[in-house]
Amino acid sequence: MSQILLAKPVIKAEINKLKLKCQEYLDNGITPFLKVLLVGDHPASLIYTRNKKKFCEKIGAQCEILTLDSRTSEEDFMEVVEGLNADKSVHGFLIQLPLPKQLSHIDTTNLVNAYKDVDGFHSDNISKLYRGSTRENLLAPCTPKGIMTLLDFYNIEVEGKSAVVIGRSLIVGKPMALMLTNRNATVTLAHSKTKNLESLCQNADIIITACGSPKMFTQNYFKNDQSQVVIDVGISRQEDGSLSGDCDFENIKDSVKAITPVPGGVGPMTIFTVAQNLLHALDNYPED
Ligand code: GUN
Repeated sequence: MSQILLAKPVIKAEINKLKLKCQEYLDNGITPFLKVLLVGDHPASLIYTRNKKKFCEKIGAQCEILTLDSRTSEEDFMEVVEGLNADKSVHGFLIQLPLPKQLSHIDTTNLVNAYKDVDGFHSDNISKLYRGSTRENLLAPCTPKGIMTLLDFYNIEVEGKSAVVIGRSLIVGKPMALMLTNRNATVTLAHSKTKNLESLCQNADIIITACGSPKMFTQNYFKNDQSQVVIDVGISRQEDGSLSGDCDFENIKDSVKAITPVPGGVGPMTIFTVAQNLLHALDNYPED
């Protein structure tokens, strides 16, 4: 029997730690506060930001989505960002991506103060990951960090394993490769120009698909001997309205050792990690 790596049991097991930590802050008169800056009405972003707010509130933290008009100018956008960085009542802050066209040229990497950077995108935070930190309270990118939490919960060994990550984005692929390397996996970072992707995947112990190509990964990419672990980061809306990952779940689920479903796998782990990072941000919040 293959194992379906659902997020729900992981979150059920881990959420109390977050609730307790949040309560400690509340008992000391501090309400952990996340601000989410959303510009425009990108449909997926509306859902993601709503889910982030809902989960933060579930653990007892406060979360406010600050929505700006899709035609907001660069000047106004930057003024809001500066205000949120300066606001001492805000402990965590993220800019939901993508930004609308007229702002899309802005390099957001270092816009959010490193100590409020619950997304883990700031160079100071990425540099810790790059240098090999495996500290649990690192402000690290939420999707790969959430995947590591999921792998750990299901006792999936990483050390000494061969892993292929497909997709080299700054949000998922690259930090994922670093995290797996830091945990002593042997990692191949594949991308759209990779030539021998099928055989790379067939020979890996862990395959992480993050390329946004719905149902691309069929049985052809796997060993089909129930030995491989597959983590599907992709999430695309199909013509019939349903959601699909990068993997052809129905086609491969019985021939791998374990696989994350879409939805219900990686997505909720990302949301969980935003809240986890908010509390880590507060733990390391500068005193003045
Ligand atoms: N858009 C898609 N994924 C993310 C994410 O992890 N963080 C932010 N800020 N925007 C996103």
